[in-house]
Amino acid sequence: MPSSSSRISGFYRLPPLERRRRLLELAELPAEGFAALDPGALTLDVADGMIENVIGVYALPFAVAVNFTVDGSDPLVPMVVEEASVVAAASNAARMVRPGGFRTTVSAPVMIGQIQVTEIDDVDAAAASLREHAEDLLGDARRLVPRLAERGGGPTALEVRPLTRGGPDGGVLVVHLHVDCRDAMGANLVNTLCEALAGKVAELAGGRPGLRILSNLTDGRTVAVRCSVDDALLASDAAAGPDVRAAIAAASRFAELDPYRAATHNKGIMNGVDAVLLATGQDWRAVEAGAHAFAARTGTYRPLAVWRERAGGLDGELAMPMAVGTVGGALHVHPGARLALDLAGAHTAERLAAIAGAAGLATNLAALRALATEGIQRGHMALHARGLARAAGATGELIDRVADELAATGEVRPDRAREVFARLCSSHVVKDSP
Ligand code: MEV
Repeated sequence: MPSSSSRISGFYRLPPLERRRRLLELAELPAEGFAALDPGALTLDVADGMIENVIGVYALPFAVAVNFTVDGSDPLVPMVVEEASVVAAASNAARMVRPGGFRTTVSAPVMIGQIQVTEIDDVDAAAASLREHAEDLLGDARRLVPRLAERGGGPTALEVRPLTRGGPDGGVLVVHLHVDCRDAMGANLVNTLCEALAGKVAELAGGRPGLRILSNLTDGRTVAVRCSVDDALLASDAAAGPDVRAAIAAASRFAELDPYRAATHNKGIMNGVDAVLLATGQDWRAVEAGAHAFAARTGTYRPLAVWRERAGGLDGELAMPMAVGTVGGALHVHPGARLALDLAGAHTAERLAAIAGAAGLATNLAALRALATEGIQRGHMALHARGLARAAGATGELIDRVADELAATGEVRPDRAREVFARLCSSHVVKDSP
């Protein structure tokens, strides 16, 4: 169950076990809810059943971003990521967006399966024959997935795309099978259907069956996310709201003009998206591939999200493919991924797509705001300094004191953290030395 409010002031200051206690209450999880994460969510045995040649389990931090409102309700946003500042950035941006929240539109969950046919003598005649038999082929496909049809999904359309009339592979065309996968990501489903139909498709086209595989450019399975932020919430210590607003809009225009900048802008979006996908057991490489192909679909690589000024504030909009599922795949076996979905209250692919998209727009906003004001290094370094302070042995209030000193001197290094920690411990001023 999602919490009634994701606004948890000072969550970042709590120790991890206290954070868990708060989340158990908010998400109404059973007391043993976090057992799935100890240790590392996966037993060696389960890991061995997931992929080949397993020698261990590789852990990453699992966190929850707070303050999100998505389509009128508050998810706790699970994130798995190795980069400091992504979770803080998402939570900060979500707090700025919170008054109006993130508003999303998620398309029907339609995946594309590709069946390639090569060595066709007459591509136009082949295309005409396939179009004539489209309903037959769709009927065959539907009969192969009756349970999906019962859940309101299944093959929805068949499209024929001639690719070339000659060349090393002869005449080539590709048939696109559109499949509504409901709450499954659908890769296995779509690949199975493509393999099953390929023989008949090739015969009708008078060619040889080629590749039979889904496309990761899932432009029929997308999420659009919108949000607005008022100037007062954009303001920082050093910059007034209208100036921050203008600088973020200018940063958006920079990404719209320059693919080199657009790639980094989109990386900032994928920081949030991928962290949610990783936590929830999704095929994040598939979403990455789709995102970048979509970004380049006009022939020029473009930003997936843009920001525009309006009187008194800023409007942001993200649109990208989002092939995610809440059944199947790693979710069968990965208890940590299941816990992440429970925390987020994401029990449908539609809701998960909305939350992942909102996380992407949030990390994009946070990155642009930091870049447009003080630059990102100050925040990164402050968080890095806290990590070094902990690694040096600091606990409680000493973490902040060591980190503040490192940040103030600009010497954010492990050796300096150990020195500062040792000095503060031996100093009479410190009362809670461990
Ligand atoms: C770093 O992980 C992401 C940023 O580079 C994104 C951006 O430049 O917009 C800060």
